[in-house]
Amino acid sequence: MNYDLIIKNGICMTPMGREQTDIAISNGKIMALGNFDASQAEEIFDAKNFHILPGVIDTQVHFREPGLDHKEDIHSGSKACAMGGITGFFEMPNTNPATLDQATLQHKIDRAMQGSLVDFAFFVGGSAENIADLARLEKLPAVPGIKIFMGSSTGSLLVEEEEALRQILLAGTSPVSIHAEDEARLKERFTIAKDAGDPKAHPIWRDAECAVLATKRIIRLAQETKRPVHVLHISTADEIPLLAANKAWVSAEITPQHLTLTAPECYEKMGTLAQMNPPVRDKAHQDKLWQALQQGVFDIIGSDHAPHLRSEKENPYPQSPSGMPGVQTLVPVMLTHVNQGRLSLERFVDLSASGPQRIFRIQGKGRIARGYDADFTIIDLHKKHVINNKDMVSKTGWTPFDGFKAQGMPVATMIRGNMVMREGQLLQDTGGRYGGQPISFIR
Ligand code: DOR
Repeated sequence: MNYDLIIKNGICMTPMGREQTDIAISNGKIMALGNFDASQAEEIFDAKNFHILPGVIDTQVHFREPGLDHKEDIHSGSKACAMGGITGFFEMPNTNPATLDQATLQHKIDRAMQGSLVDFAFFVGGSAENIADLARLEKLPAVPGIKIFMGSSTGSLLVEEEEALRQILLAGTSPVSIHAEDEARLKERFTIAKDAGDPKAHPIWRDAECAVLATKRIIRLAQETKRPVHVLHISTADEIPLLAANKAWVSAEITPQHLTLTAPECYEKMGTLAQMNPPVRDKAHQDKLWQALQQGVFDIIGSDHAPHLRSEKENPYPQSPSGMPGVQTLVPVMLTHVNQGRLSLERFVDLSASGPQRIFRIQGKGRIARGYDADFTIIDLHKKHVINNKDMVSKTGWTPFDGFKAQGMPVATMIRGNMVMREGQLLQDTGGRYGGQPISFIR
């Protein structure tokens, strides 16, 4: 027997292009692409009629463990990944306690080694208190980098002071991921939200200028300190020229929510369920986001999976928490846009696997190529289905895309040659742990 597994008859999205080729796998790695006889492997997966994408890596999720695990935990969040065709996640530090040192990081890694179905990495929060440790922390295994909140959102992480921002940027070399909203302007305008008492005011309170001020400032500091920054969840038309003019130092993320939902309709339909930071804005902004996506300005698509229970969302605005679940719906929502001709499948691969690999320097993932990990998001590109709350495996049990008529769905999730989801069924090793491994980075 030459190989452990051969995936036959699929259309593979390889660096060489869209190819009808078999994939031979042994010890969790891609050994060869080509044409193989079924007798050459112990196991065959017939991918006829399916497209095989390099495993989708979601570089922005909030899994809430420790401290807020009633909303989600690493195990439940990773199940949602597997169901949604996500083979690896990068998790954010705004837990309780926040991930600010080696001990809090190690706690997450230990929990993920026990409970994660998919591969994982954990951001460390940058704050005025841990600047001296950041250069060491960013080099630890399973750390994709440092995350800074310039505007306050869920949790207590916040860096407002220009000097603290500068010192954080000076302390290390990997791209720093940024939540770019200007805290002073947010505070100044909070009465707008309070007086309105209606989530329709969310994009008015946290207006485009809040995002632009912070993005401008962090770009200036990136240039000054020569430290690359990765600006998360871009939401405004106004930031696009700033990003495009500074690609040498700045990469950018877009989310399915900002590309798919629009104000004021989403707030009229869903109320506070549509509330996130930075906010979903109107169609004029969204059209420019699509144009930027089509012109290659965005490097990465992330879900910003930010689960809150329905009961918490029922608090009157603005006491209602910001954020929406999304890790299970990223792939089908974006494949629907592919089917509607708004981006190519190649561009989706670029945003969901090649982009994460390139920006964060992931070792051995993000490409269907010889020697890489056998991580695949296997999709039925044409399958029509309706996204539904009841199919969500996140602890929250709701999705902003409830009722969304989707075309294209993940039919199998494979990680290092192991099938973790097939046709909507999770296939898990329940012998005490679930198989997810830390993702490594070139440092
Ligand atoms: O809406 C948001 N929710 N934006 C963030 O940046 C944080 C997130 C959360 O953790 O709930």
